[in-house]
Order: sequence, then structure tokens, then C-alpha cells
Amino acid sequence: MEGEQKLRITMIGAGYVGLTTAAIFASFGNDVTLLDINKDKIEKLKQGEVPIFEEGLGELLEVARPNLTFISSWGSFNSKTELIIITVGTPMKENGDVDLTSVEKVAKSIGQKWSNGSQPIVIIKSTVPVGTTYRVKEWIEEELKKREINQEIYVASNPEFLREGLAVYDSLYPDRIVIGTDSSHVQDLLKRLYSPILNQTFPLSLKLPIQQPDHQPKPVWLVTEIKSAELIKYAANAFLAMKISFINEIARLAEKVGADITEVAEGIGLDQRIGTSYLKAGIGWGGGCFPKDTSAILNQGKEKGIEMSLVKATIDVNQKQKEWVISKLKEALGDLKNKEIGILGLSFKPNTDDIRGAISIEIIEKLLELGAAIKVYDPIAIDNFRKTYPKWKIKYIKKIEEIFEHSHAIILVTEWKQFKTLPYGELAKKMEDKIIIDGRNLLDIAPLIEAGFQYFGVGRNYS
Ligand code: UGA
Repeated sequence: MEGEQKLRITMIGAGYVGLTTAAIFASFGNDVTLLDINKDKIEKLKQGEVPIFEEGLGELLEVARPNLTFISSWGSFNSKTELIIITVGTPMKENGDVDLTSVEKVAKSIGQKWSNGSQPIVIIKSTVPVGTTYRVKEWIEEELKKREINQEIYVASNPEFLREGLAVYDSLYPDRIVIGTDSSHVQDLLKRLYSPILNQTFPLSLKLPIQQPDHQPKPVWLVTEIKSAELIKYAANAFLAMKISFINEIARLAEKVGADITEVAEGIGLDQRIGTSYLKAGIGWGGGCFPKDTSAILNQGKEKGIEMSLVKATIDVNQKQKEWVISKLKEALGDLKNKEIGILGLSFKPNTDDIRGAISIEIIEKLLELGAAIKVYDPIAIDNFRKTYPKWKIKYIKKIEEIFEHSHAIILVTEWKQFKTLPYGELAKKMEDKIIIDGRNLLDIAPLIEAGFQYFGVGRNYS
């Protein structure tokens, strides 16, 4: 932000979005305070540790550190800040609705701590149902009223489109920045904040080990109504999930008719109206976002009497992908009782230790129910999995070769790069039955067949 005055920002919520975004804005020279009530996390950050697995985040934090303050209580909150950015979690409730408890608490705390005369803008980056930004404004106003403060509150919606594991890259090279606001004052301030990204003029100190895109047009600055911005976020995630479910459905047809889904995906993706991304067939999408956001948009539709049949089909197809794995195993092995099954990959996608909404969970649960003996390997997600499912009788394997020993089948659930180049020929010899289900179409088929494997991919032609 050379030549421009720094902004004073308070970010609330140090998840992968909050922490990465705080570090990005601080690395541009702004004065950023990051508040999270998780004392452990804040302590780690203060000690210079990076509490989550994000490519380039460690290096980014090093650049950002002089401008970054970490706090773990509202007692240290300073309302003489220009921007308050809310990035707390909005998890899914049992019924598929969005749990807004944290957002409400944060809004009320802001109202309680707001000092008379200060006028920060409150930005909602958390993914929230349409209308929540206005609710946040009301929650703050209710608290101010109790304290007899009469103050105009500016709120705005600024959804994020960061992929986990690629959050630093996506922050620096976004396709668009969406701002939902009806105030030109808010627009001006946010344009100032985002100007190094909009103009692609990062400070020279920001040398990160992140490959720059070959050709990246400057991001589009899109100002919308507040409710449109909120809906853009849900619609984007639902659309991406729909693309994957679409290709997965076509993959099932491809399998039956003898076509190869990787060729079909390439053939349709080259049509620029369709595009190649999010057309990788597999055993389904998961994560902390697609499952909760598709359920949330479905429920928002229901509330308004709109049947969201495409979104519903998107979710249904995803469920069927997991069932496909089990049926393939049964087809190959018959009764699964006491069969040793090795699971390659636990995280919901590679390069993260996040297991929220991971496909591995339902597959393992079902296999345990059927009496199979389960062994799992993941390069980094084992600790998370063990902590989350402490009662599940699973063998956690540290040396990847051991997962093949005496196994009747292997299921590749997450496409970690290292799984592609394992010495499958040698490993096959250790197995009881040589069955492999390649749930991400990662592996080269010919050498596997040569090694005696019975190979099952998702919609791939391998006869
Ligand atoms: C997703 C969106 O991609 C981000 O734009 C959004 O900001 C984020 O949710 C969010 O709402 O915060 P993320 O959950 O990190 O990001 O995951 P993705 O990389 O998009 O992958 C989601 C799932 O789709 C994974 O299980 C992945 O394996 C699967 N996938 C992805 C496929 O099966 N096929 C594909 O072609 C692409």
C-alpha cells in the first residue's frame, strides 16, 4: 500500500480463511489484530507456530508478523479500528441448517465493546444464509441500544472463494472480489484495502514459494446488493459441487457403455462455455464447505417454498458415489466380513489434514459395519482422524507398504501425489487378493493390470 495510509483492521476468527486473510492484509502494511477465543491457537501463533497446514502461510506470516497482533479475548478488543472482518465458522446443524451461534456472539460482543464515536465498518466474510449480514447489523444495534449509543452501523458482505490448502494463492490471485454493500464509503475503503490484489502490485517483500499463474487477468471488482453477495457464495459452491456430481453421474454411464470418463471430461471441458475445472470424476466431493453449503442452500430454498431439485440431485449423486465403492468391493470379494481392507488417504482432499466431510469417513463406517478389518494410511491426517473417531477399531499404519500386507483390497480415497508412484508391482505380492479401487482415477492402469491387480476406477475404460 505504498503511498497510501495503512488501515487498522480487526479480524475475528483464525481459521484458514481468517488467518490467511489477516496475514495477507498485514503483509500489505496494514495494522491487523487477529482475535480468536481459542487460546491454544493464539498462543501458538504468538510463539511463531503455524497452527494449520496451508501452502506458503508460514512464509507469509513471517512477512506479516511486524504488523500482526494476536489476541484471545474481547477484553483486548479495540473498537477504534476502521474495519472489523468476521471470519468465524458457520458449521452445519444436524438438520442441515447453518449454525450462526458464533456469528451472533461476535456481533453482540462488537456491540458491547463498541466505543461511542467510533465508526468501524463490519464485514462478513463467513459463509452465512442470505439476510444474515442485516441480522449482524441488528444484533450490534440491539447491544448499542442497551448502552444508549445511537450510532449508524455500516455492514457489508465480502464472501471468500479460497480453497483450503491453496488459500494464500487464491487470496493473491482471485478471479473476482465480491463486495455486497449499498454504501460508497464502504466501497472506497475496501477498494483501498484490496488495491494491491486488484492491481497485482504486491509489496516487494512478499516473496512466497508459490507459483504465480502464467497468465492471470486482474481480478474483477464486483459490487452487488448485500443479499446478492451472500447468495453468490452459496451458488458458487453449489455450482462447483454440481459440476462434480454431473461428471460422476456421467462416469457411471461411461462405465456401463465402455467409454472413459477422463476422455469425456476433456472433450466437454474444452468447450469454453463448460471449462475443464471441477470435472474430475471420483468417489465424491467432501470438505468443510461443499457438504454444508449445499445443505444450507437446499434449506434456504425450502424455507421460501422453492424446490431446489438440482442441488438435491447434486447431493444425492454424491451419496451414490460412496455406495458405489462398497458395491464394487462386494462384487469383487463377496462377503466383506473379516476381509482386510486398506484405505489410502483420509483427508477430504490432498495437501490438507482436514477430515471434515471427508469421503473416507462414511466408507470406513460402512466397512466396519459390514465386519471388515480396516487399516488406514494418510501422510498427515491420521492424528485428526484418531482424535475425531477415538472409538473406531482401525489400524493406523505409519509405513505405507504395511497397508498392502495380507490385504484383500485397497481403496485409494484421497489423491495424495505419492500414491501415484508406489511400487505397486512389489506391493501386489504382499496382498491376499489383488484388488484396487482407485477412487480418484489417479493411477496408471497398465502396470497395475500387469502386476495382477483387479483394477476398478471411476468410469474408466480399462478392458
Ligand atoms: C471450496 C471452494 O472450492 C472454494 O472456492 C470455497 O471458498 C471453499 O469451498 C469455501 O466455501 O470456503 P474447498 O472446500 O477447499 O473449497 O475444496 P475444493 O478444493 O473445492 O474441493 C472440494 C471437494 O471436491 C474435494 O472433496 C475434492 O476432492 C472434490 N473435487 C474437486 C472433485 O471430486 N473433483 C474435482 O474436479 C474437483
